[in-house]
Amino acid sequence: MRVLITGGAGFIGSHLTEAYLERGDEVYIIDNLSTGSMENIEFLQNDDRFRDRLFVHIDTILNHDTMLELIGICDTVFHLAAAVGVKYILDYPLESIKTNIQGTEKVLELCAKFRKKVLIASSSEVYGKHTHAPLVETDNIVYGPSSKFRWSYAASKLMDEFTALAYYRTGGLKVTIARLFNTIGIRQTGTYGMVVPRFIVQALKDDPLTVYGDGSQTRTFTGVKDVVRVFMALVENDESFGQVFNIGGIEEISMLDLAKKIIALTGSKSESVLIPYEEAYQADFEDMMRRVPSVEKVARLIGFKPHVNLDEILSEIVTFMR
Ligand SMILES: NC(=O)c1ccc[n+]([C@@H]2O[C@H](COP(=O)([O-])OP(=O)(O)OC[C@H]3O[C@@H](n4cnc5c(N)ncnc54)[C@H](O)[C@@H]3O)[C@@H](O)[C@H]2O)c1
Repeated sequence: MRVLITGGAGFIGSHLTEAYLERGDEVYIIDNLSTGSMENIEFLQNDDRFRDRLFVHIDTILNHDTMLELIGICDTVFHLAAAVGVKYILDYPLESIKTNIQGTEKVLELCAKFRKKVLIASSSEVYGKHTHAPLVETDNIVYGPSSKFRWSYAASKLMDEFTALAYYRTGGLKVTIARLFNTIGIRQTGTYGMVVPRFIVQALKDDPLTVYGDGSQTRTFTGVKDVVRVFMALVENDESFGQVFNIGGIEEISMLDLAKKIIALTGSKSESVLIPYEEAYQADFEDMMRRVPSVEKVARLIGFKPHVNLDEILSEIVTFMR
């Protein structure tokens, strides 16, 4: 099989690339290296087993001609390229919206034209400001006003979902939507605001772990290998087309407790310090206080159970970063 992975030089994309290469498939990547890096995939390019099955295009998904060629020759498309990370969205507001809306529209339009299967990576951000748990795919959505730019990411991912579902309804596009909750693993970078790699880097340097707000906000974390397994199973299952699936961990933890756990795991001399949101991001910043998925829907379809516990995944990342 020929697989196209947009954003393949990114964190999740590089793991998905590795999994398909290990399975014996051909992988095409398109990535503009905005938040991804060649370091994430160089070990695959240098592996003799994969050399003639991995094709890397450094380009933007907004380039129509490149996308036309790549989608034309591949069987299945995983659309992971996006402007990601709260910090990145706030720093590059216009570029982020263009990538996330126009880029996804291009991918969907060409997949429909060539009748290719496609999985779209959406986000738990789509749910907005809920505090109840667990979040179910059919829940209502609550956002802040358009003056608060962090919501542009959620709104752009929601628009991607609507566009994907519209292509499914009008032309029968074989599209699956994966709403990812916080995913962690080796090769994730903390540069754009991702909490786990940011805390681990601080702990390994014995620097203070900077916890935003009062630290009571909670998240769940999934290992990237689980996410990759789910992606691969979903595109093989016809019943996933035209459907939205939560994919996430179920172990809820506050950011203050996460910081404590990482300090203990690394044996660091660091302490946690609380940083007001307006200092970390910008005035009027609103966070999502809680984000816990119901994974019943994906469990019913493909038998997904997040099976790696948080301590194990964190230990693997700490070892890698050391
Ligand atoms: N990691 C998570 O916790 C998480 C949570 C929810 C959703 N997601 C979604 O999963 C996908 C992958 O995220 P990730 O965590 O691997 O982030 P990442 O930043 O590592 O990957 C995104 C990749 O897309 C590339 N990219 C961005 N704009 C591009 C463009 N215009 N053209 C080509 N390439 C472009 C980047 O260089 C990067 O390699 C994203 O769509 C993201 O929204 C991730």
